[in-house]
Amino acid sequence: MCGIVGYIGKREAYPVLIKGLKRLEYRGYDSAGVALLNDKNNLRVYKTKGKVADLEQYAADKDTSGCIGIAHTRWATHGEPNSNNAHPHMSFSGDLAIIHNGIIENYAFLKKLLQQKGIKFNSNTDTEVLVQLIDYIRTKKKTDLLTAVRIALRAVIGAYAIAILDKNNPDQIIAARKSSPLVIGIGQDEFFLGSDASPIIEYTDKVIYLDDKDIAVITKGKPLDIVDINNEKTDHEVKTVDINISQIEKGGFPHFMLKEIFEQPDCLKDCMRGRINVEADNIVLSAIIDNRKHLINPRRIIIVACGTSWHAGLIGKLLIEDFCQIPVEVEYASEFRYSNPVINSQDVVIAISQSGETADTLAAIELAKKKGAFIYGICNAIGSSIPRATHTGSYIHVGPEIGVASTKAFTGQVTVLAMLALALGKERGTIDNMKYVKVINALSEIPAKMEHLLEQSDNIKDISRIFTYAHNFLYLGRGYNYPVALEGALKLKEISYIHAEGYPAAEMKHGPIALIDEEMPVVVVATKNILYDKVLSNIQEIKARHARVIAIVSEGDDTVRNLADAVIELPQTEECLEPLLASLPLQMLAYYIAVAKGKDVDQPRNLAKSVTVE
Ligand code: G6P
Repeated sequence: MCGIVGYIGKREAYPVLIKGLKRLEYRGYDSAGVALLNDKNNLRVYKTKGKVADLEQYAADKDTSGCIGIAHTRWATHGEPNSNNAHPHMSFSGDLAIIHNGIIENYAFLKKLLQQKGIKFNSNTDTEVLVQLIDYIRTKKKTDLLTAVRIALRAVIGAYAIAILDKNNPDQIIAARKSSPLVIGIGQDEFFLGSDASPIIEYTDKVIYLDDKDIAVITKGKPLDIVDINNEKTDHEVKTVDINISQIEKGGFPHFMLKEIFEQPDCLKDCMRGRINVEADNIVLSAIIDNRKHLINPRRIIIVACGTSWHAGLIGKLLIEDFCQIPVEVEYASEFRYSNPVINSQDVVIAISQSGETADTLAAIELAKKKGAFIYGICNAIGSSIPRATHTGSYIHVGPEIGVASTKAFTGQVTVLAMLALALGKERGTIDNMKYVKVINALSEIPAKMEHLLEQSDNIKDISRIFTYAHNFLYLGRGYNYPVALEGALKLKEISYIHAEGYPAAEMKHGPIALIDEEMPVVVVATKNILYDKVLSNIQEIKARHARVIAIVSEGDDTVRNLADAVIELPQTEECLEPLLASLPLQMLAYYIAVAKGKDVDQPRNLAKSVTVE
């Protein structure tokens, strides 16, 4: 969702800002803009609907001078995507420019109030209300900008990460956050701002993550000054970010999504490193050791997550119930937060989030915390809001994921959930040692088996070309592979805009079968496990209705091969780990279909990577 970049220092700001916006493109957006200030107090705002490249084209013949600036990619919430609604927004005096990520929930009330005072609005956004309010307070009360920002933010309900330029002060940016991420990069006599560290790491690895209700006064040539909305100074540790540029570049692949699909064997090695021992017969998760008393005997576990992370949660439920014998519920964070869940201190809530910033998941955590639950986070983005809001957790360590459609984060989440279930089951004595060692062994072999699977990419590319005609797809799986079917369908719809539904195979008879005909391909995960024969019957039922079947099968399965129209073979593994393998061909299938249809795979329309608003 909206991306924020800022710069103040000795360099020309414009190239830094544009490059930064490009690094944030993965978040998803529909318009872009920049505000620049030079030492002649000349404040200019350029903004346009479309991509950062459109902004560059628009600004190509304009004055982009200045060593201080803020820039933004907007994902429309209030008001359609157009250049008027794009950020930055200027205040009525023409002195202030603001960029904002988040939602001002009481904007309608504040807007009415300001309109009654005679202030005219130029956009339909909630953001403009904020800059008008700040300017109104500043001029009416004759206060400095920081005081006006503090007063305004106290009146605001909602979420924000903001950065403000003041025409009269070409040496300063004021930035603040609540529930939306904001990072400050500290260079040599220069500062950078970013929604995450990716626009910053090229220049410095020293960063400060702002906390909720922090306001940072970033002044050229002075140390950083951070206060809260009551003007109390707050202290922050300067952190070193461990991301390198190659991790956020395509490295020869045509899309980030394909790069990330192919990175999975290495990502899972990173995820398991230091957790699974070299003999592959034991798992140590520090979060479990450090929090034994909370985790060893909970009444139940509730998993909260959204999107792909929710699908990982469904697999987590099966793993934990199987190995730990603890009842597990999996909830959409967005539903959970507005329910009145019966939770107490005997419950553990596991929050899963790639970005660590999903607004609904954060709100679910806060609710569960208030009710006394112990919160365990499973996240990828280090230092993001969710790991900071949880009591403990495990990072998945798969490196930055840029493609909007999640791939390596999903398999990383499932890997951590498998390790968590195994380690907890061992502690509780609910998994026998032979099974424990066997599954760990199999888990450590997954990266090599993924490599083998990736060698089939040409075959999957060929298969995908046959299916671009379809307007609807059905994905079926059972047991551990039912969430795989859901995730496969989600991948396809996200990037190819083909309608796709995932179903437990046996449920096909209760509705979806009515849709099946020669126009609707069916993807079936039909590996040789305990439910194989039943899935085989489903395939026969589908073929009897003339639909084409793409089957994901165990190596050497000729029975399904003879029935299906296309077959992708999976290396053998433990049934509980099949999702780690079966999801790969489905990611590739979605990718190649979307590419064949000419879609923007890395930035699909309307989607955002980091959903920081409700
Ligand atoms: C968005 C992304 C999905 C992601 C979901 C949850 O919809 O496009 O890829 O699964 O948010 O995000 P999270 O960061 O919490 O895992």
